[in-house]
Amino acid sequence: MAMLLVIPLLVYSMLFITISSAVFSPQPGICYGQLGNNLPPPRKSVELIKSLKAKRVKIYDASPEILHALRNTTLQVSIMVPNEIIFNVSTNKTFSDEWVRNNVVPFYPHTLIRYLLVGNEVISSTKNDTWQHLVPAMRNVKRSLRSFGINKVKVGTPSAMDVLEASFPPSNGAFRKDIAGPIMKPMLQFLDRTKSFFFLDVYPFFAWSSDPTDINLQYALFESKTITVTDSGTGLVYTNLFDQMVDAVYFAMKRLGYPNIRIFIAETGWPNNGDIDQIGANIYNAATYNRNFVKKVTTKPTVGTPARPGWILPSFIFSLFNENQKPGVGTERHFGLLYPNGTKVYDIDLSGKTPESEFRALPAPENNTPYKGKIWCVAARGTNKTALVSALSYACTQGNNTCDPIRPGGRCFKPDSLYWHASYAFSSYWAQFMKSGGTCYFDGLATQTAKDPSYGSCKFPSVTL
Ligand SMILES: *[C@@H]1O[C@H](CO)[C@@H](O)[C@H](O)[C@H]1NC(C)=O
Ligand SMILES: *[C@@H]1O[C@H](CO)[C@@H](O)[C@H](O)[C@H]1NC(C)=O
Ligand SMILES: *[C@@H]1O[C@H](CO)[C@@H](O)[C@H](O)[C@H]1NC(C)=O
Ligand SMILES: *[C@@H]1O[C@H](CO)[C@@H](O)[C@H](O)[C@H]1NC(C)=O
Ligand SMILES: *[C@@H]1O[C@H](CO)[C@@H](O)[C@H](O)[C@H]1NC(C)=O
Ligand SMILES: *[C@@H]1O[C@H](CO)[C@@H](O)[C@H](O)[C@H]1NC(C)=O
Ligand SMILES: *[C@@H]1O[C@H](CO)[C@@H](O)[C@H](O)[C@H]1NC(C)=O
Repeated sequence: MAMLLVIPLLVYSMLFITISSAVFSPQPGICYGQLGNNLPPPRKSVELIKSLKAKRVKIYDASPEILHALRNTTLQVSIMVPNEIIFNVSTNKTFSDEWVRNNVVPFYPHTLIRYLLVGNEVISSTKNDTWQHLVPAMRNVKRSLRSFGINKVKVGTPSAMDVLEASFPPSNGAFRKDIAGPIMKPMLQFLDRTKSFFFLDVYPFFAWSSDPTDINLQYALFESKTITVTDSGTGLVYTNLFDQMVDAVYFAMKRLGYPNIRIFIAETGWPNNGDIDQIGANIYNAATYNRNFVKKVTTKPTVGTPARPGWILPSFIFSLFNENQKPGVGTERHFGLLYPNGTKVYDIDLSGKTPESEFRALPAPENNTPYKGKIWCVAARGTNKTALVSALSYACTQGNNTCDPIRPGGRCFKPDSLYWHASYAFSSYWAQFMKSGGTCYFDGLATQTAKDPSYGSCKFPSVTL
C-alpha cells in the first residue's frame, strides 16, 4: 500500500518541478546593463553572472558579442528593441522582419532567447508621439518572430510604476487616464492573447526615499515584523511595500478586464551608494533588500502576493554592475551586485540556497536618516581636462553672476587652477539650480562634498538641507 501511495506522489512532484522550472522558474535573473567604461568584456561578465547563480539575464539591446557569449549556456535571455526604433518597427513590417533576422535568428536557439522587450519604460522615457507605436511594434515583432518559426519567445515591454495614476490602497490601482484606453488596454489584450507577461519595474527604494517619514524603512526592506498595511477595499494585509506596489498593478489590469496576465518583475533592486543628499542608499540596505527579495521569490511553496497568493513571480534584479556612465543622481550608478572589477559589493546567492549565516557581515548603514547640513559640489579628481573646461564654461553661462568671483581680480580667482575654478562654478551653479532639479553631476565631472572647500576670503556657495 505504502509503495502505491509514494509513486504517484513522486511522479506528481517531478512533473510539477519540470513544468515550473521549464516554464517560469522563480529563481531571479539579473539585468546586465553596460553603461560603464570600466566593465569586463561579455565573456567574463557571463562567467560572473553564472557565479551569482542567476537563472536569466536581461540586456538592454541585442549586442551580438553578449548573445554570442551566452551561446550554449543554460541562461535564459531577454533582449530589447531600443526606444529609438519603435516607430520604424511599428510602421514598417520589413524593418521589423529585418530586426528579427539580424538580432534573433543568428543566435536562436543556441542562445536561449526567451523574452523580447520592445523599448524600455516607453511611457516614462519617450515623447508621447512614440506611445501610439508601442503596441503595434509589439504585434509586428511577434509576427516577425513567427514568420521565422520562432514561437518560444515572449514579446512584452517593461513599464515603470508611473503608468499608474492611483496605487493606494492597492485595490485602487488604476492606469493613467491618458494611456488606459489608447495604450494599456490594447497592450493587455496582446499580452493575454500571446500568453506573455506584464513586465514591471518595481523600486520600493524610490517610493520610500521620496517619503521616508510616512513609509517605514523596514517595510520597504521586507524586514517589518510589526508594521502591516491593510487594504480597506479588500481587507488584504500587506507586510512589505513591494507586494503593495505589484498588487496595485494587478488591480489596474483587473480594472481593464485582464485579471489573469502574469506579472514579470523586469527590474527591482536597491542602491548600495549614492549622493550625500540621498537617503538610505547603502550596502547594508541593498544587501538586505536583495537577499530578502531572493528569499521571497524562491521560498517553497510559492508565496506570491496577497492578491495573487501562490503565483510565481519571475524576475530580474537590477543590476549586475555599478555603471559609472549612467546619468542622473548618484544612486543610478550604484545598483550593482558587483563592482566593475568583478568583486561582489556584498555576498548574495540568487539561487536562495546559501544560508544567511554564511554571508560575511555587512557594514552598518550610516545614511538611513536624511542628511542635515551644507553640501558643496566640487570637481571630481582625475577627470578629462578638456571636458572639465567645457563644463566650467557651461556652468558659468547659467544663472546669475555664477562665476563672478573666479574672474581675474575676483575673491576666488587665485589659485588660478582649472580644478578650483570648476569647483567654484559647480558649487555656484548647484546652489542656484538644485531646487529646480539641477544636479551635481556634469557627466561625472562633479561630486558632492560635505567638507567646505572655501578658503581665505573665497566663500563657496552651498546647498543647505
Ligand atoms: C554550441 O553548441 C553547438 C551544438 O552543440 C556547437 O555546434 C557550437 O560550436 C557551440 N558554440 C559555442 C560558441 O560554443
Ligand atoms: C526610422 O524611420 C524614420 C522616418 O521614416 C527614418 O528617418 C529613420 O532613418 C528610420 N530609422 C532607421 C534606423 O532606419
Ligand atoms: C522599411 O525598412 C526597410 C528595412 O530597413 C527599408 O529598407 C525600407 O526603406 C523601409 N521603408 C520605409 C518606407 O521606410
Ligand atoms: C503630447 O504632449 C503634448 C505636449 O506635452 C500635448 O500638447 C499633447 O496633447 C499630447 N498628445 C497626446 C496624444 O497626448
Ligand atoms: C574592486 O573594486 C572595489 C571598489 O572599487 C575595491 O574595494 C576592491 O578592493 C576591488 N577588488 C579587487 C580585487 O581589485
Ligand atoms: C575628453 O573629452 C573630450 C571632450 O568632451 C573628448 O573629445 C575626448 O575624447 C576626451 N578624452 C578622453 C581621453 O577621454
Ligand atoms: C536670476 O535673477 C532673476 C532676477 O532677479 C530671477 O528672476 C531669477 O530667478 C534668477 N535666477 C536664478 C537661477 O536664481
